[in-house]
Amino acid sequence: MKVSVFGTGYVGLVQGTVLADVGHDVICIDIDEAKVAGLKAGEIPIHEPGLAPLVLENQAAGRLRFTTNAAEGVAHGELIFLAVGTPPDEDGSADLKHVLAVARTIARYMDGPRTLVNKSTVPVGTADRVAAAVREVLQERGVDYPFDVVSNPEFLKEGAAVADCKRPDRIVIGTDSPAAEARLRELYAPFNRNHDKIVVMDIRSAELTKYAANAMLATKISFMNEIANLAERLGADVEAVRRGIGSDPRIGYHFIYPGLGYGGSCFPKDVKALIHTARSTDFSPELLLAVERRNEAQRRVLFDRINAFYGGELKGKVVALWGLAFKPNTDDMREAPSRSLMEALWAAGARVQAHDPVAMQEASRVYGERSDLVLAATPTAALEGADCLAIVTEWQTFRVPDFAQMAHLLKDRMVFDGRNLYDPALLARHGLGYSSIGRAAQDPAQQV
Ligand code: UDX
Repeated sequence: MKVSVFGTGYVGLVQGTVLADVGHDVICIDIDEAKVAGLKAGEIPIHEPGLAPLVLENQAAGRLRFTTNAAEGVAHGELIFLAVGTPPDEDGSADLKHVLAVARTIARYMDGPRTLVNKSTVPVGTADRVAAAVREVLQERGVDYPFDVVSNPEFLKEGAAVADCKRPDRIVIGTDSPAAEARLRELYAPFNRNHDKIVVMDIRSAELTKYAANAMLATKISFMNEIANLAERLGADVEAVRRGIGSDPRIGYHFIYPGLGYGGSCFPKDVKALIHTARSTDFSPELLLAVERRNEAQRRVLFDRINAFYGGELKGKVVALWGLAFKPNTDDMREAPSRSLMEALWAAGARVQAHDPVAMQEASRVYGERSDLVLAATPTAALEGADCLAIVTEWQTFRVPDFAQMAHLLKDRMVFDGRNLYDPALLARHGLGYSSIGRAAQDPAQQV
C-alpha cells in the first residue's frame, strides 16, 4: 500500500521503516531540512538498535523515501500517518499545534479520499479536532473529498522500538468506519499472522487506551518505589520483595523495578496530560496525582543521599556518574534522572565526571561546554579523581566492574546506586560503602 508518514521522530521513523520493510511503499515527511538531508544520505538521527541497517536496506530497495515536500507526501499516501510530537504545554496538557498543523497541511494538498492515521499520543477528542481542521481547510478550498481519521496508538519502547514494531503485542485501531478498519487490517496483515492482535474500538477509547497503558506502567513503578522507601525504613530488602510479588502472575515481573523514578519522553508527559484531561472533566485523578508526586520525590533520592553523606558540604566534591541516558540502549536524555541529579549537584557546587556508552554526544548537545562537567571516555576514567560514584542508568557494561580498582580510585569509597546493580555484600568485601534503593545502606567505615 502507499503510505505517508508525517514526522520522522522515534515513532514515525521506526513505523515508516518497518512498514516499508514488509513491502509497503513509504514516504516520510519532516519539516526539518537538515534531518531529511541526513536521512537521505543514510544518517540516522537517533540511536535505536537495528534501525540503521533497516533504513538503508529499504531506502536502497526504493520502498522508503524521505522528503520535506508535504505536497508530495500527501499526493503519495492513501494512508497518511500523523507521527509528530505532542510536547507538554506549560499546564501539562499535550500541545497539539504540530498535529493540527499537519492535519491542515494534508487538507491543503488532498486531491482525493484519504485515511489519516493518528500515531501521536494525543488527548481523547483529538481525532475530532483533526477532522474539524481538515474539514475547515477543505471548505476554504471549496472541495469535498471523503476522509477518515483513525486512532492507532503506538506502544513501542525506546531501545527496542524496531523489535516492538515488527512484533507488536497488540494493534489498537480506533475507528467508526468499516472501510478504514479494512484498510488498516490490510496494512497490518503482515504483522498479524499467528493470532489476531488487532483490537478494534471506537476512536475515543483508542485514544484513552494509550494513556491508560502508560499510566498503568507508571503506577507500577511509583508503587514499587513507594515500597522501596518503606523497605529501607523497615529493614527489608525490596529486591527480595520484588521477586516475591513478581512471581504472582497477576502482578508479573515487569515494571516493578525500583529506581530513580520513571523518565523518558512518554511517562512523565503522558501522566501529566492525563491528569490535565481528567481535571478538564471536573474529575480529580487521586491515584495519578500520587503517582506523579512519588515520581518527583524519587528523582531527588540520589542527590539527597549524596548531600546527606557529605553533611550538605558538596562544594568542590567530584562525583563520578555512570549513565546519562534515561534508560539503557538509547541515547535519549529527555526527562532523564541523570539530568535532575547533575543539575542538583552543580547547584550545590559539586563537579561531575560522567560516562555513558552512547549518550555522551547528546549530553554535550544538551549542556555544551561547562567547567563542572567532564565527559569521561570510559567508566574507569570517570572514577579517576572522583570522591564517590553515582549510578543512574542500568547499562549492561556497568554490571560487573572491577571493584578493587573502584575502591582504589574513589577517594571516599562510596557508591550511590540508583538501579540496584550489585550485591551489597560484594561491595562490602571490597571495602566500598554502598547506598542503593530499598535496601539498608552500608557504611564503609564499618566495613573496612
Ligand atoms: C514507554 C512505554 O513502555 C511504551 O509502551 C510507550 O509507547 C512509550 O513509553 P519508553 O519511554 O521507551 O516506553 O520507556 P520504558 O522502557 O517504558 O521505561 C520508562 C521509564 O520507566 C524509564 O525511565 C525506566 O527507567 C523506568 N522504569 C521502567 C522503572 O523505573 N522501573 C521499571 O520497572 C521499568
